Amino acid sequence: MNIEKQISEKGFIDIAPEKNINLQDEILKLKKEKNAIILAHYYVTADLQEIADFVGDSLALSQQAAKTEADIIVFLGVHFMAETAKTLSPSKKVLLPDLKAGCSLADSCPAPDFKTFVEAHPNHVVISYVNTTAAVKALTDIICTSSNAKVIVESVPKDKKIIFGPDRNLGNYINALTGREMVLWDGACHVHHEFSLERILKLKQEQPEAKIIAHPETQKPVQEVADYVGSTSGMLQFTIDNEGQIFIVATEPGVIHQMKKASPNKTFIPAPGDDPDCACNDCEYMKMHSMTKLYNCLKYEQPEIHLDEEIRLKALIPIQAMLDISAKNGL
Ligand code: 13P
Ligand code: SF4
Repeated sequence: MNIEKQISEKGFIDIAPEKNINLQDEILKLKKEKNAIILAHYYVTADLQEIADFVGDSLALSQQAAKTEADIIVFLGVHFMAETAKTLSPSKKVLLPDLKAGCSLADSCPAPDFKTFVEAHPNHVVISYVNTTAAVKALTDIICTSSNAKVIVESVPKDKKIIFGPDRNLGNYINALTGREMVLWDGACHVHHEFSLERILKLKQEQPEAKIIAHPETQKPVQEVADYVGSTSGMLQFTIDNEGQIFIVATEPGVIHQMKKASPNKTFIPAPGDDPDCACNDCEYMKMHSMTKLYNCLKYEQPEIHLDEEIRLKALIPIQAMLDISAKNGL
């Protein structure tokens, strides 16, 4: 099967690497030869976080994508993150080792339905979470991430009405923080939605000194028992700054790799989901990338992200607005 066919059918290049090579060494060599940068989200596997040039949350990754001088950006994250990088850096080659690394939250908001939603709410400012396709961003006034959502919402004058999509948990959280009454799109992330309050509380009962930390994509009852609610980088920083020694982590457990690196003597417990037999708190999309896929991706410079130029130009406006507001607020 040729490479194009493999990519269109499987989403990635399925070629076994040459025998006796050290994949990590070869990746580093290729990266240097091709002037490539590897950007990774906290949710990818630990080995990939270790080989990346930069590991961060969605805001930090988009900031890196906007400023890099590399010719090639390899994104170890999900599709919308690579699209955001391509929107910001159209002259660069943006590669995603597995094109099927999607996002259930972005999927919960198809662009034609979002367009109908926007049209049904005239005179509303449209704020969309970065976990959306470029086509949804093209219908948006300002993008936000979990790190800057409060600042972005507060940048809109109080007398303006807002619609917010697609994550209703983040939307409700920001409504409560800001006192706004944003109209919310009814979407959610299947990973964050699954955390079980009952099982988290049972863990807390067993370890009363443990601090509960949660991502704002979790459901309200989980946020209500949390000692801290924030983005992945906010959660990481909290575990560094807080004097607590045990943390129950209610987000995708990939981030625990960085937490352990920063605080080797502290204990991190992944928050459980409803089903004790299911590793439901793993984001299967983030976990689709592997060292072999990364190697092939750099070697063959595929799979590549392509965007319709009209959509890209429209999507760039709200992404740039987010970066500008964030920079003004020191984020
Ligand atoms: P962050 O903004 O914390 O990186 O979250 C991204 C994400 O996909 C959460 O599920
Ligand atoms: Fe999307 Fe949820 Fe995975 Fe984040 S954890 S990338 S929101 S599916």
